[in-house]
Amino acid sequence: MSEVSAPVWRSRQAISNHVLTPAQVEAFGRDGYHFPLPAFSPAEIQRYRDTLEGFERRVGGSLTGQLRNKPHLLFTWADEMVRHPAILDAVEDVLGPDLLVWSSSFFTKEARDPGYVSWHQDSTYWGLSEPDVVTAWIAFSDSVVENGCMRVIPGTHRFDQLPHKDTFAQNNMLTRGQEVMVDVDPQQAIDIELQPGQFSLHHVRVVHGSEPNPSGRRRIGFAVRYVPTYVRQTAGPRDSAMLVRGTDRYHHFDPEPRPKVDFGDHEQATHRRITEEAVRILYRGTDKVT
Ligand code: NI
Repeated sequence: MSEVSAPVWRSRQAISNHVLTPAQVEAFGRDGYHFPLPAFSPAEIQRYRDTLEGFERRVGGSLTGQLRNKPHLLFTWADEMVRHPAILDAVEDVLGPDLLVWSSSFFTKEARDPGYVSWHQDSTYWGLSEPDVVTAWIAFSDSVVENGCMRVIPGTHRFDQLPHKDTFAQNNMLTRGQEVMVDVDPQQAIDIELQPGQFSLHHVRVVHGSEPNPSGRRRIGFAVRYVPTYVRQTAGPRDSAMLVRGTDRYHHFDPEPRPKVDFGDHEQATHRRITEEAVRILYRGTDKVT
């Protein structure tokens, strides 16, 4: 593994310290993660959870397939979450003032769910031009060791892109079941434990994963992927994203429309078109299409 110089984003953007102190921003640069940060009060996050679970009951189960992805194009409440000031202020502290939501996904583990996430770097198949991508992982439920919280290996984002192999393993929650092809020492892992309404930040190249949920309760996380506007998609003709703060002077992404009503016909059609395009990028080079 070759270690590259520290991530470059600090030199590309004006520095803010809305939420993270200079020492915390420096620690993020060194370690590749930061947590916990507050966004929603227990009552607020419970309202979002009730809304999500009400919808799940109507469609007969937890969000599956492409419904899991980019829900902020389908639901006004998810759109509201991805642009919550507490989250954007923290993301701005590490990525600068001009921010797009490139994607978002629910990572839900049911009670006694065998689903797990193998050790991986998010950057592997995303096709983005630079590793200046930060995920805000929002806890809808608690997310702790007991129910399979995310774990990270500190400092691994300072390695370049590492080779991965596709396993398409049955209970693997990743698109290709991709797994980093270097030995990971789980002793070094940090458990990203969060309470409902809190979130964590992690760098697109930090090696992370999670265990199954053997507990009797659901674990629900909502991962939102932010990029500064100067990042480009390199793997396809055009990609799309949603501006949530500042100005887009680059226009590298087609702008995505905000949902006006929850799960409306227009919203569903837009979401389908956009997620089908994203699938072509994520599964390129394989024969998998869903
Ligand atoms: Ni990941």
